[in-house]
Amino acid sequence: MRIAVVGKGGSGKTTTSAVVARVLGRRGLSVVALDCDSNPNLGISLGVGDQETERLVAMRQALDEGDEEHAPEWDELIDRFGSDAPDGVRLAVVSRIENPDPGCPCCGLSPEQLLSSADFGDAIVLADLEAGIGTLTRLQDATIDAVLIVVEPTPKSIEVGSRAYGLVRDKAVGRVVVVANRIRNDEDLDRVRQAFPDAEIVAVPDDPAIVAADRSGVAALDRTADAPAVLALIGVAERLLPVAS
Ligand SMILES: Nc1ncnc2c1ncn2[C@@H]1O[C@H](COP(=O)(O)OP(=O)(O)OP(=O)(O)O)[C@@H](O)[C@H]1O
Ligand SMILES: [Mg+2]
Repeated sequence: MRIAVVGKGGSGKTTTSAVVARVLGRRGLSVVALDCDSNPNLGISLGVGDQETERLVAMRQALDEGDEEHAPEWDELIDRFGSDAPDGVRLAVVSRIENPDPGCPCCGLSPEQLLSSADFGDAIVLADLEAGIGTLTRLQDATIDAVLIVVEPTPKSIEVGSRAYGLVRDKAVGRVVVVANRIRNDEDLDRVRQAFPDAEIVAVPDDPAIVAADRSGVAALDRTADAPAVLALIGVAERLLPVAS
């Protein structure tokens, strides 16, 4: 089962990915969270801490500079270039690097190639994709089982989200959920509903608890698990459970 999280830069992809990955992990599912962003910070939102997140980023950079031995297999990439996050989630940083070894599973495959070719066994793979729709455009059809499109109620964010929605419909994705993030009032939610009239939409409120967790470099789930935005994101994960289990 492969889940991709997409949206405009800053829309809340990483916040969403982290909560969803951990909630699925709590349900006893084996979860691999792939940080596909070129500024990888999913580790912080997952709760592995800033030092461990930096260590993983540094290892990826060392690989890029030829100072780190390559992982010959996908499994080893997860072992060596990944980290254990809370709730049994395994995090791996697979962002694109400047000097890949073509075809090498640990660096020469783009996130979209990894998503289509790697054997994840029974694991649920949740990919926090780079901002925009680039990766989605390049994804092969029927590679992904579910897509979360994260949109803020702004014209620019909705525009990117709408293009993503059009693409996933063309690519035969099983389940598509629009995460309407940072919703402050009915007007905000209406704006998203009008832009995605046929979509399954989950509203996530604009919530200072998310910003506070980010400021202190901890997972929102660990800091304020009962914050309204966290509860809404737990709801997003629960919607995916029938697809995931
Ligand atoms: N529901 C929310 N309420 C308040 N603030 C939020 C909410 N969701 C996200 N944020 C804030 O918005 C900012 C961007 O969130 P996040 O890093 O999850 O977005 P992103 O889409 O992953 O960004 P990027 O494209 O840079 O990777 C963060 O500062 C985060 O604290
Ligand atoms: Mg992000």
